[in-house]
Amino acid sequence: PPFEVVQECDVLVLGSGVAGMTCALEAAEAGLRAAIVTKAEASEGSTKYAQGGVAAVMTDPGGGPVDRRGAGDPRDSVSRHVEDTMSAGCFLNDREAVEIMCREGPAQVDMLRKIGVTFTEDAGSATGLHLVREGGHSHSRVVHAADATGAAMMRALVKRAAQHPNVSLHENHFALDLLTMPLANGEGVGCYGCDAICAETGDLCRFVSKCTVVATGGCGQIYPSTTNPVVATGDGIAMAARAGAAVEDMEFIQFHPTSLYDPARRCSLGALGSVFLVSEAVRGAGATLRNLAGEAFMAGYDPRGDLAPRDVVARGIYDQMRLHGGDHVYLDATHLSRERAEEEFPHISRNVRERLGLEISQDWIPVVPAQHYACGGILTNTEGETTVRGLYAIGEAARTGVHGANRLASNSLLEGLVFGRRSVLNAIDYVVGVHPLDLEAATHACPGPLTFPREAQHLGVATASAGDAEAADLVQRIQRTMWSRCGILRNDKDLAAGLRELEAITREIEVELKESGCRSLEQAEALNMATVASLVMSGAAEREASAGLHHNVDKPPTARQLATAASREPAAVGAA
Ligand code: FAD
Ligand code: SIN
Repeated sequence: PPFEVVQECDVLVLGSGVAGMTCALEAAEAGLRAAIVTKAEASEGSTKYAQGGVAAVMTDPGGGPVDRRGAGDPRDSVSRHVEDTMSAGCFLNDREAVEIMCREGPAQVDMLRKIGVTFTEDAGSATGLHLVREGGHSHSRVVHAADATGAAMMRALVKRAAQHPNVSLHENHFALDLLTMPLANGEGVGCYGCDAICAETGDLCRFVSKCTVVATGGCGQIYPSTTNPVVATGDGIAMAARAGAAVEDMEFIQFHPTSLYDPARRCSLGALGSVFLVSEAVRGAGATLRNLAGEAFMAGYDPRGDLAPRDVVARGIYDQMRLHGGDHVYLDATHLSRERAEEEFPHISRNVRERLGLEISQDWIPVVPAQHYACGGILTNTEGETTVRGLYAIGEAARTGVHGANRLASNSLLEGLVFGRRSVLNAIDYVVGVHPLDLEAATHACPGPLTFPREAQHLGVATASAGDAEAADLVQRIQRTMWSRCGILRNDKDLAAGLRELEAITREIEVELKESGCRSLEQAEALNMATVASLVMSGAAEREASAGLHHNVDKPPTARQLATAASREPAAVGAA
């Protein structure tokens, strides 16, 4: 193969967000050699943009649950967090995974504090942390660094990884395909690393590893309007699917209710790529959604009103937009004083001012739902193992079962932290059994379908970010199909048509690849996006009944789901 072996390691981590970084650092601390391959700068990814925070029931030094401010509610507990998570997920979650996440989360928040993340403090609380409330949470339990929690986390994680002698960091390396080989015992395949291309030099590299962890995040870019950054093209999920790993629950795509609507860019639903998020923490601090007539409407849809889970709120907004004919609604945070707005939401205040010339403490903020999160992904057990030996998946790319049909706010950073660590606990044992001859064989294994031809090396193909117009056109077609056929409300006819459209797009890309190999990173992303979009569409077409984020008007919820929805408890009083 045209690949030069760059590095052998124990644990190869694809992606450097909260999940990948947590995993690599945990492996490194355990004495394993970890390599991180990441598509852009290490800090780039959804994690960096996370606003609201990390949901975790922190305990006081005496071991009891504590509350710090606002509601001042001492009744919170890990089991309440578990129930809120299950309820938001319409009880389609894997309860064992949820319990693990909620139980092990607080220690991971402590780990972040130890490596230098400064969370917003409250001197009056037992643990010194200020907590906020978000949709679907019965208590204020979200730990945060003002309204830019992810950026604070990434600064500390990247610094730590760069300093660690057991971690090697390969930025601007785009992972193309996983290296898989049949297992000697004939039972399936094993994974021994990946092939990648350096986006700066065009060098093709082979990373051979005892185990491989996919931490490549979500796939927001398959929709035309998403809060996710441009790197979120679902590469890891597509790669794992090509390698034969099971992928599940992809139809549960979360639309965040309140992305900033930008009239100047005509940035309504289904318009223009990455959009700015207005955190749910703003509603947690008491803000109200209003329709174009100025009426507060969420209480008409759910007893929890503006703090109902996201699937409910996004559908409520969508309905109001249909009823009132507009392409946005308003978020009214004018109960906040200017001082409080600046203190608690400095990042959002600045962005709304700079982008729209509005003050969040004085003006209603125009907002609209946008794609935000993939609840499904590569199927794993509670230790991150996938259905392919030696292949793990963590973070947004994984389907651990914690989210069910709808993720609870601020449970994603938590999932990355908890399962990033847990995958290593398993991998420590796994790597001991990997035979050196298998690693040797992996250096000669055939590359996967996303291969750049030998003559494309060093020609600058990978750096041609000036654009691959044909690939850009394919991506737009995928995005249009996803929004028009598989958005917030779905129906059988659109889903069937969507499947046909995506099949045609995928075939076009595959023919091109077969004829002349991969010509650009954009084309590689287009294939990955077509693959992941097809998984979302087929998951949606195949699901028998609506639940949570998957709302098919032709397939009503089961009687059990309806009963469950009715029992979704009203929120405890007293937001922060
Ligand atoms: P990411 O952080 O997305 O990292 C993925 C990594 O994989 C990146 O480094 C990327 O470059 C790399 N990568 C991708 N493809 C390749 C490839 N082919 N080769 C090599 N590398 C690749 N969740 C919360 O819990 N709380 C919040 O407050 C919150 N706020 C959010 C706000 C915004 C605007 C967004 C977009 C999301 C928010 N979320 C929040 C969700 C949460 O941030 C993400 O789900 C989470 O950070 C995902 O972490 P991750 O490590 O799995 O992936
Ligand atoms: C937000 O701050 O609203 C995003 C939180 C999340 O995605 O969990």
